[in-house]
Amino acid sequence: MECSWKTVLLLVCASLGVQYTAIRTLRDSLSAPCPGTYSCQGRRHRGKLSGPSYMWKLLCDDSWSSGELPRRHILLFATTRSGSSFTGQLLNQHPEVFYVFEPLYHVQQAFTNSSSRLRRTLDRRALLGAYRDLLLNLYTCDLHFMENYIHPEPQDHMTSSLFRRSSSHALCSPPVCQENLDGVSESPDESWCPKKCGALNFSLASMSCLSKGHVAIKTVRVPEVGDLRTLTEDPRLDLRIIHLVRDPRAILASRIMAFSDQFRAWKIWNATGRQPRYVDITQITSTCKDMTDSLTTALQKPAWLRGRYLLMRYEDLALNPKDKTEEMFRFVGLDMDERVLTWISRNTNRNTGSPSHWNYKYSTSRDSRATAESWRLRLSFDIVRTIQNLCNDTLSHLGYRPVHSAAQLRNLSQSLVEPRTFQPAL
Ligand SMILES: *[C@@H]1O[C@H](CO)[C@@H](O)[C@H](O)[C@H]1NC(C)=O
Ligand SMILES: *[C@@H]1O[C@H](CO)[C@@H](O)[C@H](O)[C@H]1NC(C)=O
Ligand SMILES: *[C@@H]1O[C@H](CO)[C@@H](O)[C@H](O)[C@H]1NC(C)=O
Ligand SMILES: *[C@@H]1O[C@H](CO)[C@@H](O)[C@H](O)[C@H]1NC(C)=O
Ligand SMILES: *[C@@H]1O[C@H](CO)[C@@H](O)[C@H](O)[C@H]1NC(C)=O
Repeated sequence: MECSWKTVLLLVCASLGVQYTAIRTLRDSLSAPCPGTYSCQGRRHRGKLSGPSYMWKLLCDDSWSSGELPRRHILLFATTRSGSSFTGQLLNQHPEVFYVFEPLYHVQQAFTNSSSRLRRTLDRRALLGAYRDLLLNLYTCDLHFMENYIHPEPQDHMTSSLFRRSSSHALCSPPVCQENLDGVSESPDESWCPKKCGALNFSLASMSCLSKGHVAIKTVRVPEVGDLRTLTEDPRLDLRIIHLVRDPRAILASRIMAFSDQFRAWKIWNATGRQPRYVDITQITSTCKDMTDSLTTALQKPAWLRGRYLLMRYEDLALNPKDKTEEMFRFVGLDMDERVLTWISRNTNRNTGSPSHWNYKYSTSRDSRATAESWRLRLSFDIVRTIQNLCNDTLSHLGYRPVHSAAQLRNLSQSLVEPRTFQPAL
């Protein structure tokens, strides 16, 4: 009872006073240098852009005409071998888009090495949190945040180890790269960009990002759309999620081809017609479950996802690239650019695609029409039937027809992709 109400009042007033002064000081110091001067630019690009400097960036950007924060934040939300490299390239062609190819690879690597002994549930929650942190920082052009996860550790904000840097125009052209590389970007070799451009300077990458109107990120590492909720609700972002799905039978066929070591048992199964006891079916079943769970979430039309979710079947995009790309760009609020159209005509026509790209594991430059259902010639009926049983819900939700005989499987004149219209933006 020593503490009287007067003391309490005094304390409250004092604390309010301190806060008020702090706010005043902050506002005064901001309002003066921001408009039209270079002090924001200096703050923005000097050293690390995180923590307090991130706030400077936000506050300054309102009034700094030539470099606002990116307005649209596009997430190409996909799974391994679902056509996401191809789809990502459509976004990458747009001159106003800063595109990053699977930045979460580095986070997963860091976690896998350091914490494989942690319990899986804890692992998953912490990992998803780190994923979201990185996405948020990339969307606000703080590329330095990425340095935390890159191995070996970047020196002087420089690295030679960014995963698939060559997939991003912005990271391989001025100002990030001094070389004039027109035309080279079609090269199938993953390492051409670091070879030509040298190590990546994260400060330059952040500047390049800020000079673009929009940021697009492709990831295959977030399991379910619900895992992105805090990002859709973040007032700093205007997130648009393109959920790219593909027939799980095609995904499996593509994985077996691309990762032959990991899928050796499947290869044996396919070749011999007998299922080896050690074949691992969990990867494909969780892929199916994740696709269905995301779709189920989206169909419930939760407020946090309204207008921010587009379902895109890779097969529709491959069969009708121009219209589907237009739909995608309309959804994210961008105009189709001439470069996008040029890229489409170059990569979806058998006659003009460069043959040198055909055998490359991550090549996107193929005849997309021919590849959409080519998996039907690459999987034994026995495997197909097994997947149809494991993923029956996913197939029926997404409109992929099951086959009931080997003859039906191989008969390409009957498509297994049911015509479906999914609501453009659920
Ligand atoms: C994780 O370990 C692998 C294999 O030992 C190594 O190649 C990779 O660079 C490591 N990654 C990190 C982030 O430490
Ligand atoms: C990276 O780019 C920034 C901005 O141009 C520059 O100040 C810095 O010196 C560069 N870092 C290195 C190691 O060259
Ligand atoms: C599966 O076997 C068929 C022949 O039975 C073959 O043409 C195809 O390439 C094989 N698929 C894979 C992924 O190895
Ligand atoms: C999928 O298979 C399960 C188990 O056999 C069954 O309960 C479910 O109804 C099937 N779903 C569809 C869409 O056929
Ligand atoms: C392939 O399917 C079409 C359409 O269902 C059918 O008319 C045709 O006879 C089938 N071809 C073979 C070789 O079974």
